[in-house]
Amino acid sequence: MRDGPDVSNPDIDIVPIEVTDDALVRSWIDMQTAVRRHDLPDTDLPLPGLQRLRLLLHPASIKVERWAARIGDTVVGFTGLVMPTQDNQHLVEFELEVHPEHRRRGIGTRLAEFAERRAAANGRDTLLTGVVDSLEGAPRFDHSGRHFAGARGYAEVDNEIHRRNDLTLVDDDELSRLYADAWNRAAGYELVQWASAAPDDLLDGLAHLNERMYTDPPQGADLDIRPAEWDAARLRDIERTLAERAQLRLNSAVRHVETGAVAGFTAIVVNPGDEEHAWQDDTIVDAAHRGKRLGTILKIANQRLLREYRPRMRYVHTWNAEVNDHMISINEAVGYRALCRDIDVQKKLV
Ligand SMILES: CC(C)(COP(=O)(O)OP(=O)(O)OC[C@H]1O[C@@H](n2cnc3c(N)ncnc32)[C@H](O)[C@@H]1OP(=O)(O)O)[C@@H](O)C(=O)NCCC(=O)NCCS
Repeated sequence: MRDGPDVSNPDIDIVPIEVTDDALVRSWIDMQTAVRRHDLPDTDLPLPGLQRLRLLLHPASIKVERWAARIGDTVVGFTGLVMPTQDNQHLVEFELEVHPEHRRRGIGTRLAEFAERRAAANGRDTLLTGVVDSLEGAPRFDHSGRHFAGARGYAEVDNEIHRRNDLTLVDDDELSRLYADAWNRAAGYELVQWASAAPDDLLDGLAHLNERMYTDPPQGADLDIRPAEWDAARLRDIERTLAERAQLRLNSAVRHVETGAVAGFTAIVVNPGDEEHAWQDDTIVDAAHRGKRLGTILKIANQRLLREYRPRMRYVHTWNAEVNDHMISINEAVGYRALCRDIDVQKKLV
């Protein structure tokens, strides 16, 4: 399938990325690697194995389209669209990248127009993506995305600071002190930890906390992300997908002993073949259980779990809204330092 008639730039054609087309997939991963090296030097690079697994497998709660812009046999650009199927059916979260050697020739514009048309064809009216901004005293990154998004009429609707924890610099004695101190404030709770599949009796509580992730963290007033419903089947489906893609998810939860309620949880994802970068997933403490240092307990306990499973892992990455003082002070205390600002940009199709 080609996008011939739709694409007015004669130099490129836009084709779906099929996992069975090895040359296309390889060229796509090479392009993504060049983009990362150019735009975000000294951070992680795409993982070829995981990129291929992602083409094959995703949870039932999203629909995914991936399109490559090619000149001849070489991939010079990419857009990937993720469309929630069980909530937020107005929304497309997308990625858009152009090889650094092929920028400022209209390829990004073609791909963005194409992504917007695919969004409309899928009955969606809101497009959301992220662009990078550098922070004072931190590495200087490429800002093309921000300029491009502004030029295409995307509004800046939210901000998150990307922080990274260098585990080789963590002060273990200080962490032990913080951890013991936190437990003094958390009488009546217990820690539950697992890799990959959650214990059955936590599922309903975890589903509830996943729903709260859409409503509780501070977010920009114009960011159009709407409440969602989660259940045990959705959680199990995500666990299964991660396992099939060889992604290890390490989890810590705190349970209120008397009632059995799941008061909070956090997770870190370790990708296949990555010995250097791990990724913080959601962290949340239910409103009824806040102010008892449960967030600190969760973060320290899960960081320790990561070090048990992957003693050589260097970095953990996380994102927080700039106004999320609580989460940020916990993260700074356990060793996270700011790397850059990620700006959410959004466009409403009219
Ligand atoms: C953003 C990106 C996709 C743009 O790709 P591109 O092919 O260079 O885009 P175009 O040539 O179509 O640029 C269209 C317009 O965007 C603006 N723009 C793009 N890059 C810019 C830059 N570095 N500085 C200032 N304006 C820029 C300009 O207005 C440009 O028009 P002009 O060249 O006539 O002045 C590319 O820089 C990239 O891959 N960046 C990293 C990934 C990223 O940030 N993606 C998020 C995009 S929302």
